[in-house]
Amino acid sequence: MKRLDLILLFSFTWLLISISACSHYEELQKDPKESKWGEDESHNEGENCSSCHNVNGHEAVREGGWWTVSGTIFGKDDDVQKNAVIELWEQPNRRGKIIKRLETDDEGNFYTNQIINFMGGCYPAIYTLGGQVKVMPVPYNGGSCNSCHGVSTSKLELR
Ligand code: HEC
Ligand code: HEC
Repeated sequence: MKRLDLILLFSFTWLLISISACSHYEELQKDPKESKWGEDESHNEGENCSSCHNVNGHEAVREGGWWTVSGTIFGKDDDVQKNAVIELWEQPNRRGKIIKRLETDDEGNFYTNQIINFMGGCYPAIYTLGGQVKVMPVPYNGGSCNSCHGVSTSKLELR
């Protein structure tokens, strides 16, 4: 093969690889699903969302979504906490860059199907506007908050 042909072949192969690597990402971007204040799309508050939404082939993934971050915040008297915020930070105590910010919906749940770079471990924080702020003192490299909170440690609570 001539040198130019080789270069073209190489570029073309590279282009194909790049396109296929992007397609799953773009699929998710096309149909973004994320909890918002005032919305009411979710369910099963307090349960470990990942036990369904992070299981390959599960109906929850096919019909709902693959949540990269999910969980529930409770309020007073075991009620759920609407209008709360959850953030993932690069450094402890809400310092450094903010990696992701989500709102809880009317079920007290938060979730997103957007791809997140957890940077090898980030520091969660939860708060209500003008109210209580709570930070997780140790980093977590993932988003399955209800896999520990409400199971092996306390529920996420703001009051
Ligand atoms: C026992 C399995 C199971 C658990 C646990 C579960 N889900 Fe689901 N979820 C499903 C299934 C199945 C669907 C799709 C069918 C439907 O909408 O009910 C779904 C759908 C959804 C939808 C609707 C998405 C859309 O396209 O409208 C949201 C939002 C959602 N789940 C959020 C959550 C959150 C947040 C949690 C954790 C607090 C959670 N789910 C826990 C099984 C589960
Ligand atoms: C591997 C288990 C685990 C996971 C997963 C986890 N946490 Fe934690 N979290 C802990 C432990 C242990 C503590 C410290 C004990 C406590 O305060 O409950 C804690 C503490 C916290 C606190 C402080 C609570 C308080 O009362 O001061 C917040 C806020 C928090 N986590 C948020 C989150 C969020 C949001 C997620 C999901 C992005 C998450 N955590 C995922 C184990 C976990």
